[in-house]
Parts: sequence; C-alpha cells; structure tokens
Amino acid sequence: MLAGKRVVLIIGGGIAAFKALELIRRLREQGAGVTPVLTGAAQEFVTPLSASALAAEKVYRDLFDLNDEHEMGHIELSRAADLIVVAPATADLLAKMAAGLANDLASTLLLATDKRVLVAPAMNLRMWTHPATRRNVATLARDGVLFVGPDEGAMACGEFGPGRMSEPADIVAAVAAALADGPLKGRRIVVTSGPTREPIDPVRYIANRSSGAQGTAVARALAALGARVVFVTGPARVPPPAGVEVVRVETARQMLDAVQQALPADAAVFAAAVADWRAAHESDSKIKKTGKGRAPGVELTENPDILATISKMKEGRPPLVVGFAAETDDVLSNARAKRVRKGCDWILANDVSPETGIMGGAQNAVTLIHADGEEAWPRMSKDRVAARLAARIAGELGPADGG
Ligand code: CTP
Repeated sequence: MLAGKRVVLIIGGGIAAFKALELIRRLREQGAGVTPVLTGAAQEFVTPLSASALAAEKVYRDLFDLNDEHEMGHIELSRAADLIVVAPATADLLAKMAAGLANDLASTLLLATDKRVLVAPAMNLRMWTHPATRRNVATLARDGVLFVGPDEGAMACGEFGPGRMSEPADIVAAVAAALADGPLKGRRIVVTSGPTREPIDPVRYIANRSSGAQGTAVARALAALGARVVFVTGPARVPPPAGVEVVRVETARQMLDAVQQALPADAAVFAAAVADWRAAHESDSKIKKTGKGRAPGVELTENPDILATISKMKEGRPPLVVGFAAETDDVLSNARAKRVRKGCDWILANDVSPETGIMGGAQNAVTLIHADGEEAWPRMSKDRVAARLAARIAGELGPADGG
C-alpha cells in the first residue's frame, strides 16, 4: 500500500512514544521507508537504538551534531520525505508548530518543509482541551496540517477522556489516505458536510438531523483517489475521515467563510445540510420563561446560501461545483430547478422523506442531474454513492498538470 514511499517520523516526548515503535513496524510492513527523528524528550521514552533497529535506518536526533548536519540536514530530510508524520505530537510540539518556532531539529524540519504534515496528538486531556492547545490546533488545521486522533479513553496519567494517541493501525490508514495515488492526485477539492448549528441564546440552537455520513463518505472517497480534500464540517455525528484537512465550524456563516478561505480549488462538493435560517437576534443571555404561559417568539432571518454563493463567483469559481438536493416532494423537478437556480454544475437529487430512511441512514438513492441529462443511480450505501461520485469527478476533471 505504501511501497516506495518515504515517511519521516518525528517522535515527540510523551508516554505514547512507545507506540511509535509499533508504528514504524507497521509502516514498513506496508512497504514504506521510515526515517525516525527523535526529539530530546522522546529519547527519555524510547531509545534511538530501538527506533533505528525497527526502521533499519539511521535515527536523527535533536542534537547539534555536526555529522548529522553534514549527512542529512533538515532540508535534505524534508526533500527525501513524501510525508512527515509527528507521533506522538505533544502539546509542546503543536505549540511550536503553530508559532513557527525552530529551535531544534524536529521543529526546524517542520518549519522548513513543503511536504504534507500529519500529526497524531497525545497528551493529558486537560492539555488537549486547554484554550491554548485549542487555538494551536485550529491554526494548524487552517495551515493544512492533517490530524489523526486523538482518541478518547483511559490514559497513562489515570484519567479518562480525549488525548490518547490514535492506534498505530489508524495512523497507518491516515498515512495511506494522505499519500494516496490516483486519478485525483494534484487536485484540491473542498467538501462541506454535516448540519450547522444556529444559536438562539447561549444554551439553545436550531439544527437538523444530518449525521454528516454522506459528506464524510464523499471526502473519504475523494482522498482515496488522491485528492487533497479540505473538509469543512458542522457538528456531525460521524467522525471526519482520515487524511483530509478538517475545518470545524458551527454556523452557516462560519461555513461560508471557511469555504471561501479554502479556495482556490478544482472542485467543491456541498453535502452539508445547512440551516436555512438563523435567529435574527441571538440573545447574549439565556431566554427565561415569563411565567405567564406565553412563549417567546423567535424571529428568523435567512442564512447565506453557500452553494449558490460559490457557484455564482465571478472570479476564482471552482471549475466543478456539485450540490445535493434534499427533497421530499417532486424530487426530480425540484432538483432540476434547484440546480439552475443555484448555478451549480451537477446536483445529486435525493428523496429525504422519512419513509426512505435516508436522512441519518446508511443508504442513499440519488439521481445525478447535469446540464446534459440525468442518471438515476440504484439505491446503494452512502459509501458507494461517494465512490461513484468521486470517480465521476475524476473523469470530469481529468489528470492534473504533472499529476
Ligand atoms: N446549501 C448551502 N447553503 C445553504 C443551503 C443549502 O450550501 N444555506 C447547499 C446544500 O449543501 C446542498 C444544496 O445547497 O448542496 C441544496 O440544499 P437543500 O437543503 O436541498 O436546499 P435549500 O437551499 O435548503 O432549498 P429548499 O429548502 O428550498 O429545498
């Protein structure tokens, strides 16, 4: 799966560093060459000798070792790599990356590289949820750094929660997704997914039943064909796929903003179930009962239409814009009209009447509508719909220059 690929693996100093050894073994099993780089702190947890023995390669360390610089400095290490993986990525390493610090080999390499970087964070849950780490993670995600995990579970410090490093098998899957070769190699595609949440007051919001399953499947399928995917997701029930750039948003306006920031792109697929309306006036404090049995009125105002906004861009419009049409009545005629009204190239019409079980379910039945005609696809899993759509997009875009 990874034959001929070179992974530079930066091992940070955390208790999860021992899992990095298994990661080396599994990456090599898949055919990848692994160059380990150990931070100073990592050497307190694993020995350079064990990393080097498993990788069957020289280990680079955070020492100002003239021999290392002579043999292969940070620039050469980066040049040789197809992907840089940081596992475990400690809070300290993430902070350095976010700030652009370069005061040891690992951070210098990360600042100097133009290769993709995948991080597998591992830390105590309070460090993971600390506002400083939240800020750093958001900055790195915006910079295009890929994340895998962290998982939730029991931790070495005796606590339970998010912060545990992903299992080596999951990190290998994320590496494979990030390095996937395929007809979409060299293409950048934006995918929106999930519901949006529109606040009414600090504790209440308007949302919908979307699970994010279809958008997640589309992003995964596009990445599997080699695309670089920017996945803009609302608070979905299913976790985001591995190997894609994840941008998390809550509201429709944030989603539009994130999509605009992610451009330019070769294609954009709008699978999100965006709330059409939001509260016209968001209350800063919790709306209280009056005690007189009178319910408050919530005045609504329309949200921006993200698909229509992007489809109608005068400059920098992605060459292929794909929307979904969730309908309950007159599915096809509504979807045809929606395609024209919103100005997108393709629309996938689906029937979301409750009896179909599609909304929130595992299956979907879609009709692909474009300017030259329509194709009804048989009812199939959302994963198969996604794979078929990804293949169609690859066919439409053709090979990228140099791809
Ligand atoms: N969409 C969007 N921004 C919105 C509303 C919808 O980007 N504010 C996108 C969806 O992601 C989807 C397409 O537009 O790709 C159609 O969504 P749908 O809910 O079917 O259409 P609506 O615009 O909500 O139209 P209506 O409610 O009248 O059916």
